Amino acid sequence: MKQAAARAALDYIELGMIVGVGTGSTANHFIDALAGIKGKIDGAVASSEASAERLKKHGIAVLGLNETGDLPLYVDGTDEATKHLHLIKGGGGALTREKIIAQASEKFVCIADESKLVDILGAFPLPVEVIPIAQSLVARQIVKLGGDPALRPNFTTDNGNIILDVKNLKILNPVEIEAQLNHIPGVVTNGLFARRGADILILGTAAGTVILD
Ligand code: 5RP
Repeated sequence: MKQAAARAALDYIELGMIVGVGTGSTANHFIDALAGIKGKIDGAVASSEASAERLKKHGIAVLGLNETGDLPLYVDGTDEATKHLHLIKGGGGALTREKIIAQASEKFVCIADESKLVDILGAFPLPVEVIPIAQSLVARQIVKLGGDPALRPNFTTDNGNIILDVKNLKILNPVEIEAQLNHIPGVVTNGLFARRGADILILGTAAGTVILD
């Protein structure tokens, strides 16, 4: 189902595009599918070192966002999605670069299997990237917001930071909680993609792909 969703995202590729590419197993399916039409694109901007490596192995040019400027298209997976196209991302720890590329992209196509569609966000622990010296300060502030933060063990982000995975947050208003978390000093990003959610969600289901927009 992930692979079917990834392949369906190829429909959004146009000749000469530079494509933003996400991180994770679904994004990996997309990278592999992209390799089949690599002559059509001018290159890719990757949201992680791992995705950059995979793109390069396929012979796809990897460019920096500072050189490309805004992108026409970003394709990435998700950990949870609602029908309003609000997301929780960051299970793979690449949330900050993912959020930067999503913001820089005209169209964000999110690809996922049907298990990722939820009514209310938050069963998946919300990843929060934090500058290491702020770990305990940020954790205390998150507890005040009603969450239970846990340090992701043995993990450093591509930006040299830690991740707190937050359980038990009642995410009824994702736009507000995204902003509240971002206001805590030491928080780099949180995994709520609500202020800039997806534009299109392609879900791989047992009955084929379904598109929500
Ligand atoms: C990485 C992400 C991924 O998109 C998310 O974790 C989904 O991963 P997968 O496609 O492996 O289910 O946000 O930071």
